[in-house]
Amino acid sequence: MKHIFQKGSNPEAPLLLLLHGTGGTETDLLPLSEMVSPGSSVLSVRGNVLENGMPRYFRRLAEGVFDEEDLIFRTKELYDFLESASGKYDFDRDRVVALGYSNGANIAASLLFHYEGALQGAILHHPMVPRRGIALPSLSDIPVFIAAGKNDPICPAEETDDLNQLLQQAGATVEVQWENYGHQLTRSEVDAAGSWFQKNFL
Ligand code: MLT
Repeated sequence: MKHIFQKGSNPEAPLLLLLHGTGGTETDLLPLSEMVSPGSSVLSVRGNVLENGMPRYFRRLAEGVFDEEDLIFRTKELYDFLESASGKYDFDRDRVVALGYSNGANIAASLLFHYEGALQGAILHHPMVPRRGIALPSLSDIPVFIAAGKNDPICPAEETDDLNQLLQQAGATVEVQWENYGHQLTRSEVDAAGSWFQKNFL
């Protein structure tokens, strides 16, 4: 997968796996990683799927309607990529925290939904429920930060509530930050993600 790897200055800090939104690239979230954990190594990956020229991590049939078969395939592809990248760049595979926005948050949530031990934690900006009706692996003690917009037309509030509930039922410790905005990333949610990261990982 097309990606950027940057070695961090703090070997104690987990690696940040950056996952952009639809139409983004692997450079988009680099400034966020600086705000959330400046000492972390960073692995920023570009989605392998194109929708009208816009990179994404998996196909969708319509807005908010995911192609499940492709989601499962692409989640495995990213999972396998993490395994091989940890060997190539010599980072601790057990210490990877995802930081994703929108479509990137959805593939990060899908890693949590499909693979035990895929992530040590996750920052999900404006995620949806990636799949319904499946048994989740144990997410015991995995901290998850969700930022959501009260007026997000793409991720309605119930979607956030459902995701929160499903993650908690699997054992995750979830913190939800509500913003009075829509689908956009806000400075205050990024600041809150930074505090959450400090509290949980540093
Ligand atoms: C998705 O397709 O993953 C969600 O609708 C968010 C987005 O617009 O990328």
